[in-house]
This record gives sequence, structure tokens and C-alpha cells, in this order.
Amino acid sequence: MPKKIIIIDGGPRKTFNTAAMLQKFAEGAKSVSVDIEVKTVRLYDLDYKGCMSCMACKVKGRASNICKFKDALTPVLEEIAQADGLVLGSPIYFGQITGLMQAFLERLAFPWLSYNDYSLTAPKRMPVVLVETMNGLPERNNSQGYGSMEYCITTALGEPQHLIAYNTYQVKNYDRYELAGFSEEAKRQWRDEHWEQDLQAAFDAGRRMAEAV
Ligand SMILES: Cc1cc2nc3c(=O)[nH]c(=O)nc-3n(C[C@H](O)[C@H](O)[C@H](O)COP(=O)(O)O)c2cc1C
Repeated sequence: MPKKIIIIDGGPRKTFNTAAMLQKFAEGAKSVSVDIEVKTVRLYDLDYKGCMSCMACKVKGRASNICKFKDALTPVLEEIAQADGLVLGSPIYFGQITGLMQAFLERLAFPWLSYNDYSLTAPKRMPVVLVETMNGLPERNNSQGYGSMEYCITTALGEPQHLIAYNTYQVKNYDRYELAGFSEEAKRQWRDEHWEQDLQAAFDAGRRMAEAV
């Protein structure tokens, strides 16, 4: 029986750090078996809102743990409900995941939450990987990662695995921009020592998820 892994790319850039990590994850997953289907959804390509507080998911007798609001996110949320594995990826903006990733997570997680007993129940539990990329270093960064959404994910889907790429190249050519706060030399050195390993870690995580589903 084919298994489906859904990758949600919450970054705007189609070829940079977050996209590259997610692409490697997909390659790793697909390397395991032709029976693994990997679908990447790019949030910045979709026209959607965060939770509209319509409360349709909490109507008595018709409560739903899948968001009822209809827009471009609807088929994605329905597909995740049936999936076998979920990967979320985001660059860190001002210490947080992107606004579009946060808006997506509101739509994913609010229907999981019961206001009767505060339990969190997804349609299906599944392995989850959370990817972050950022300028910060392991010992000095401002990332709050997936923040309070991580508790919802852990409770409803399962304990996520984290993949973090630190000190990424923000632009290809540092000479072209007002970025004097960064030493390109230090960035290059970090990239030479870490970037291939970060990509390999993403590939390996993809393989592990595909083997587990
Ligand atoms: C609007 C904006 C805000 C950012 N804020 C942070 C930040 O608070 N902390 C950090 O470590 N990096 C920050 N960065 C850097 C990005 O997280 C980093 O370059 C990331 O790898 C970009 O991902 P991408 O290459 O997939 O676009 C910011 C970048 C942008 C564009």
C-alpha cells in the first residue's frame, strides 16, 4: 500500500535554504521505495487565511477535527488528515516561524482542540519533522521555533523530530547588499563545514520517516 508524506514549505524562496532542506528530505524519503509518495506544498503559492474563528469546527453534533473554512488550504488540510507523515519547514523571521506557517498551523490545530475538555485530537497520529533555517548560531540564536504550536503537534500527532540549519547564507553575494553585520568569510567557513551535513541530515531524516511509515 503506497504511503504519503506531505511536506509543507512555509518559506517564500523556492531555491534557498529551507527549500533545499525540504528537497533533500523528499529525496531521502523517495530513495526508500517507489511506494513512498512525497508531496510538497508551498504555502506562499496558496491564497488562504489563518483561523477565521468561524467556530464551524465546534458546532454541537457536527464538531470536526479538520477545518471547515473553505479556501485554498482546504484540500491541503484534508490531505494531511489522511497522510502517513508530515514535515513542516520555515525560515525564522524575527525569532518565529513565518506568518504564513503560523496561519497554516492555526487552521491545522484549532479543530484538534476540544473546548469541552481541552484535549487535542488529530484525525490520525503520524511522524512529524520540524525544519528551521536561520542566521543564528547554535549557541546564539533568537529562535522560538514552532513555539506553542509545538505542544499541539506533539500532543495530537506525536513527538516531532527537529532539523535546524544554523548560520545560513541569506544571499548569494554579500558584497551586493548592506549586510555589514555579517562577515561573509565567517559565513563561508560555517557553510563549508556545516551545509552539506545539514542537507545530509535532512536526507537521512527523510529516509528514516519513509522507513517508519
Ligand atoms: C524578514 C526576515 C527576518 C529574519 N529574522 C531572523 C531572525 O530573527 N533570526 C535569525 O536567525 N534569522 C533571521 N532571518 C534570516 C533567515 O531566517 C535565514 O536567512 C533563513 O535561512 C532564510 O531561509 P530561506 O533561505 O529559505 O529563505 C530573517 C530573514 C528575514 C527575511
